[in-house]
Amino acid sequence: MRISFKINGKKVSVDVAPEARLLDIIRDELGLTGTKEGCSKGECGACSVIVDGELVNSCLFPASQAEGRVITTIEGLSLGDKIHPIQKAFIDEGAVQCGFCTPGMVLAAKVLLDKKRNPSEEDIKKALSGNLCRCTGYTKIKNAVKKAAKKR
Ligand code: FES
Ligand code: FES
Repeated sequence: MRISFKINGKKVSVDVAPEARLLDIIRDELGLTGTKEGCSKGECGACSVIVDGELVNSCLFPASQAEGRVITTIEGLSLGDKIHPIQKAFIDEGAVQCGFCTPGMVLAAKVLLDKKRNPSEEDIKKALSGNLCRCTGYTKIKNAVKKAAKKR
């Protein structure tokens, strides 16, 4: 079937197989490889993207359900050649090591901060709870989200 949706501000139409996942379309059809594939079963959050303002695991999201949606991937966050303030906060706080989890973490933080200007520690913990990091130990990631919140 052919579906159309908006991704990072651009309207696209793609042919999708019935079993295709949104992750496949984003990475393989559209070449947006900032979205990562980790566990492939909804547990790690590496494949997180924003669909109509909500964080979703694109490895579990059927591509056919993207029809008419508004999607943001990590590539859609930078403002021209400038990185997004949340990305800058991650760099400043040393919250990026291998970087595999980072696109998903940044998008999870974006969804949180779009909804809550001053999130509590608990809000941040909850917002990042579906995103796993094997490297940083979370403290620096949480500090980055706090820093990004302060800059708004
Ligand atoms: S790859 Fe989708 S949640 Fe892990
Ligand atoms: S920075 Fe390596 S998994 Fe998070």
